[in-house]
Amino acid sequence: MGKAIFITGTGTEIGKTVATSFLAFVFQKLGLNTKIFKPIQTGLAEDGVSFADQYWYEKVVGLAQSEGLYYMEPAVSPHLAATLTNTTIDPALIVEKIEQWKRQYDIVLVEGAGGLAVPLIEKEQEFYMTNDLIKECSIPIIIVSLSGLGAIHHTVTTVSYAQQQGIRVLGLIFNQFNAESIIHVNNIETIKKMLDLPVIATLPSLENVTKHTMMALAERWLANNERKQLLREVLSVEV
Ligand SMILES: Nc1ncnc2c1ncn2[C@@H]1O[C@H](COP(=O)(O)OP(=O)(O)O)[C@@H](O)[C@H]1O
Ligand SMILES: [Mg+2]
Repeated sequence: MGKAIFITGTGTEIGKTVATSFLAFVFQKLGLNTKIFKPIQTGLAEDGVSFADQYWYEKVVGLAQSEGLYYMEPAVSPHLAATLTNTTIDPALIVEKIEQWKRQYDIVLVEGAGGLAVPLIEKEQEFYMTNDLIKECSIPIIIVSLSGLGAIHHTVTTVSYAQQQGIRVLGLIFNQFNAESIIHVNNIETIKKMLDLPVIATLPSLENVTKHTMMALAERWLANNERKQLLREVLSVEV
C-alpha cells in the first residue's frame, strides 16, 4: 500500500506545483512509483486550451503520471468555478481515486487548489473547504511557502490553522529561496524556532523551469546523505 501526501501552501501562485514536481522527481530518482493528482483544476494554460496545472506537469516538466478529476475553465476559486460551470464536486470520488492509486503506486502526491481555507463546495449555510477534503482523505500535508517578506506570518497562520483542524503537518518547503538574502535566511531560522517542524527543502528560483532543471534540483537535494533519513523519518517513506 502506497502513501499519499497532500501538498498545500500559504496561498496561490507560491509554488505548490513546482514543489510537487520537485518531490515527484525525488521519489522517481529513488525508484518509487509516483502519481500526481491535482483533483480540482481551474484556469487555462498559455496555449489557451490545456488546463494550467495539467499542462505544467505534462508539458513543462514532463511528468506524464499526473491526472486531474474536475477541470473548470474559469480561473477563480473552486466553489465559484463549480457554480459557473454547473459542476458538482464530489469529495467521495476524490477520496476513492486516492485510495485506488495508493494501491497502485508507492507515493500519491495530491496538490490542492490554493491554500487550506479555500472553499470547494458552496452549500446553503456553509462551505465545504479544502481542509474538510484533507480530513476526509485522512492524509498528512506538506505546506509550501515563499521565502521572502511575509513568509513568517503566512507560514505560522497556515500551520496553526492546520493544527486547529487536526490536520497533521509533516513539514515545510520554502520556495524561491535565496541563500544570499538576509530576509530569506532569517525567515527560515525564525520559523524553525517558532514551529517545531522540519524544513524538507528550500527551492531556489530557477531561471528556466524544465524537466532537466527540476531533475537536477532533485538530484542535488538527494546528494546530501541525510536526505534519505529525512524521507524515512519525516515522510515515513521506505527508501
Ligand atoms: N522555484 C521557482 N523557480 C522559478 N519559477 C518558479 C519557481 N516556483 C514557482 N515559479 C513560477 O511561479 C508560478 C507559480 O508557481 P506554481 O508552482 O504554479 O504555484 P502554485 O501551484 O502554488 O499556484 C509558475 O509560473 C512558476 O513557473
Ligand atoms: Mg498549482
